[in-house]
Amino acid sequence: MEFPRKINIAFLPTQIERLDRFVKYMDLPVDLYIKRDDETGLYATGNKIRKLEYILGYALEHGYDTLVTCGGIQSNHARTTSYVATKMGLESYLILKGDAPSFPDGNYLLDKLFGSRVEWVTEKEYEENIEGIFDRVRKKLEKEGRKALIIPEGASYALGVFGYIEATKELKEQLQNMNIKVNYVFSSVGSGGTLTGFLIGQRTFSLDTKMYGINVCDDKGFFQNKILDIVSQFREFYPDWRKWSYISKEDIDIIDGYVGEGYGIPYKEEIEMIKILAKTEAIILDPTYTGKAFYGMINEIKEGTIEAGSKVLFIHTGGIYGIFPQKAQFMDLR
Ligand SMILES: Cc1ncc(COP(=O)(O)O)c(C=O)c1O
Repeated sequence: MEFPRKINIAFLPTQIERLDRFVKYMDLPVDLYIKRDDETGLYATGNKIRKLEYILGYALEHGYDTLVTCGGIQSNHARTTSYVATKMGLESYLILKGDAPSFPDGNYLLDKLFGSRVEWVTEKEYEENIEGIFDRVRKKLEKEGRKALIIPEGASYALGVFGYIEATKELKEQLQNMNIKVNYVFSSVGSGGTLTGFLIGQRTFSLDTKMYGINVCDDKGFFQNKILDIVSQFREFYPDWRKWSYISKEDIDIIDGYVGEGYGIPYKEEIEMIKILAKTEAIILDPTYTGKAFYGMINEIKEGTIEAGSKVLFIHTGGIYGIFPQKAQFMDLR
């Protein structure tokens, strides 16, 4: 089996740290580690860059000059796409849902600084017809003489999956070098591509650990189906990888119950957890993805789902720019 061509932009490998001060503060009965995929680069921070490295490889090989993608106003994926496009001399076109804000903030501020063209669509249009919107934008750009590569939401499709297959290889080698046997790995699930990559990577590189995803929107059943869809697309496009990508619904362990009121809406316990990790370890989680997943993981440890004495590793998938538009949540910090 071979990995497709990729462009190296991320700072890899990312480090693994032990969270001893946090564990002591919280009085947890486990050893806790964190893999710093938030440190894949200042503007490239987070999990999306690993997927985009492969997408860029494909784009450059096939002569695309514009990257088109979509997301919410604070989409980390849109920001990373905007960054890599400019970095490689390409253009980017973002389809964002909602209304243009009166002033740019967080990820959206960076999108604008990196020079992305932005089109706003209503939530309804976005949810009901993103394929149609992509098609319209592709044709419009073609008329302008551009060759547009469409990247689905979160880059959670067959090609993007390679980012976290490769990350699993990196993780396995690091754990071997550190001589650590991790029992559980946790990651947040937003569009499913990261967990899909881990599950295939786990089989490819025989990483003997239990992998849990914590969903930050929708529910367990939704993501089990979504991941199965990504897997079947992956198997169709990359038949050489079939041996390692047989995944059934039961293999997809998603812990539900930490979405709160909805996607992008933080809650009190989560904000509290973000503050504790920041003051004990100087690590910042984001309010949309990693805050919810990290809070969920700690809650599962406290409730005993994870047995005492285990070694647990959290994948920090980035998202720091999302904290700035949510500053009102942190009013009590003076
Ligand atoms: C910071 C961050 N963490 C986690 C995720 C979830 O990853 P995935 O979309 O691959 O499930 C995303 C994107 O959705 C993200 O931006």
